[in-house]
Amino acid sequence: MTLYRTIYASRPFGFDSAMLGGILVGARRNNQRDGLTGALICRADLYLQLLEGPEPAVEAAFARIERDDRHVDVERLVAGTIPARLFPAWDMLDDPARSWLWSADEVANGALAAASPAALTHVFERLAAEQKAPRVNANGLFGGPACPVDGNA
Ligand SMILES: Cc1cc2nc3c(=O)[nH]c(=O)nc-3n(C[C@H](O)[C@H](O)[C@H](O)COP(=O)(O)O)c2cc1C
Repeated sequence: MTLYRTIYASRPFGFDSAMLGGILVGARRNNQRDGLTGALICRADLYLQLLEGPEPAVEAAFARIERDDRHVDVERLVAGTIPARLFPAWDMLDDPARSWLWSADEVANGALAAASPAALTHVFERLAAEQKAPRVNANGLFGGPACPVDGNA
């Protein structure tokens, strides 16, 4: 089966934990059904999402996502076939903004539109590599990543 990937960026419209939780629950349910995996980088000024799987399923999900009024300015940045998934174990990983990601100022000034497909893909390659080391919280339990929804992005 040919695998396909798309990466897009958008701006959250209303960003709080309830909304983000709702997006992720629905996304994971659908993605499991549709054979999709991926990651959603989320912070107050930015969603950056990678979707991967069979092309028709990726395109159908992206068409729904584009129409979603929980974000605005959806801009597709990367699309094409891939040899393997980056996030085979994740219906949709959610991850907060990282220090190594473009800053809010850089994003506001068009850094994502100016970035090459390779640079955008590398963001997710780096994220995927980090997942190989399990996150353990102070109690020795898997804490799970959480997007910053309280304005501390
Ligand atoms: C930032 C963002 C990311 C989303 N990611 C996904 C996704 O990965 N898969 C998906 O099916 N829907 C995703 N959605 C939700 C879709 O826009 C849409 O609401 C949903 O697919 C509709 O599914 P339903 O008919 O089962 O309610 C996302 C929405 C937003 C705002």
